Amino acid sequence: MTSDLLLKITRFRLKGERIIIRPFRKDDIDKRLKWKPYPDPLYAHYNLGEITETQRKEWYLKRKKDPRMLYLAIDDLKEELLGFLNIYDLDWGNKKAKLGIYLGYESTDKGYGTEAIRTLLPYFFEKMKFKELYLDVVALNKRAIKCYLKCGFEFVRTKFKRHDPRNKIDIFGDERFKDIRKYFKKEGDEILVQFEEMRITEEMWEKKQVDSK
Ligand SMILES: CC(C)(COP(=O)(O)OP(=O)(O)OC[C@H]1O[C@@H](n2cnc3c(N)ncnc32)[C@H](O)[C@@H]1OP(=O)(O)O)[C@@H](O)C(=O)NCCC(=O)NCCS
Repeated sequence: MTSDLLLKITRFRLKGERIIIRPFRKDDIDKRLKWKPYPDPLYAHYNLGEITETQRKEWYLKRKKDPRMLYLAIDDLKEELLGFLNIYDLDWGNKKAKLGIYLGYESTDKGYGTEAIRTLLPYFFEKMKFKELYLDVVALNKRAIKCYLKCGFEFVRTKFKRHDPRNKIDIFGDERFKDIRKYFKKEGDEILVQFEEMRITEEMWEKKQVDSK
């Protein structure tokens, strides 16, 4: 089943009104490297910076070879790369998976994220015949949460996970972060950040289609 799907996916295209979802390619990393970086230090882990040829190959192979992952690119209609979607932890037995998404900084806040997820969901539920899609979002990422709620996701539970060490920010020392400290806690040497787990089930998605008619 998995390999069938991966084979099919090489010709795979999902079209929205302003976007196209397609399998990612090796040269997508070059396009990604040209994106303007996120200025907000909380999003620094989305900025790639300089990478070596070996890292470039690793970036591609890690995503292409993982049988539990479908890594997809989001283009606009002029084939400009807007971002990536990632269905991972594909659990074929229980028909569950997780979703990741990120756009280039300059493509955010234009409705592309919502459109990409709404375009992906019919494929996930109807073609792949999966039943549940989960995601984890940092609780302070209000834009992402709003986008997921618009797509029909609901909150499942709150959890704490290790803060991404690539975001070298002094949450507890730097006064710029005083308003968001409530989302962080220290545990020994580690800094943990609050995440919200969200999900959409096939039933929730079907009901949303009916309600919006
Ligand atoms: C998260 C992400 C995929 C959302 O896609 P997007 O195209 O930017 O989002 P959309 O424009 O479709 O929707 C965002 C909504 O949040 C709202 N919003 C934006 N900033 C907000 C904020 N600070 N607080 C509350 N709502 C906010 C927007 O107004 C919009 O709602 P509206 O359509 O009702 O006006 C994209 O912003 C992104 O890639 N961000 C960086 C990486 C990231 O955070 N990934 C998610 C990790 S879980």
